[in-house]
Amino acid sequence: MTKVQNDLTKKFSKTTRVTHGITALLILTLFPMGKYMEGLEISEKMGLIKVHAILGIIVLTLTIIRTISFFKHERPEDLKTGSKFNDKLAVWIHNIFYFLLFGIAISGLATMILGGYGEALKTGTIDMIKSHSEIPPLKPHGIMATIMMISLVMHVVGFIKHLILKKENTLKRIL
Ligand code: HEM
Repeated sequence: MTKVQNDLTKKFSKTTRVTHGITALLILTLFPMGKYMEGLEISEKMGLIKVHAILGIIVLTLTIIRTISFFKHERPEDLKTGSKFNDKLAVWIHNIFYFLLFGIAISGLATMILGGYGEALKTGTIDMIKSHSEIPPLKPHGIMATIMMISLVMHVVGFIKHLILKKENTLKRIL
């Protein structure tokens, strides 16, 4: 049951490891920040929206870099967990992250533009900002962000489960 099955000396490329770590920290900041901003008056949140958008664009840039790095560099084999279903689940959770990160960033940018936030930041006036119900990409932005947080929990639970059951610290491959 606890027999080592995976070669943990083979790591992802340095670019993948660094962008993975920074992205994880940024996502954990951006999600609560987005939820917190939702309840604020527009006049109170312009500064936070600017920070949120800048951090979000950094996440998008890191995701593009990681996607290129993923295909360009040799990578360790997919993890074996002892269950075919879990092997596939782990790969799919990883794939879902890439799709969601792009979807969240694109809908965030669309919200900035269509919601009038970009214009407001440029001119310093908030009159052109629309109400949430009038900004179509905002709902998908929030929904995708929530699905990503659920995936993140599954990602971490998978790591902990593997650590306990297989006694393999798979983080070594990505740190
Ligand atoms: C991984 C990256 C991101 C995460 C996890 C994230 C998360 C969130 C969340 C949870 C909300 C609240 C929405 C809701 O609950 O309905 C939100 C709102 C928002 N986000 Fe993001 N976001 C990210 C990236 C971006 C990017 C790249 C931009 C724009 C460049 C952006 C712009 C906005 C704007 C304008 C709002 C609306 C704020 C408001 O009016 O209250 N986000 N975000």
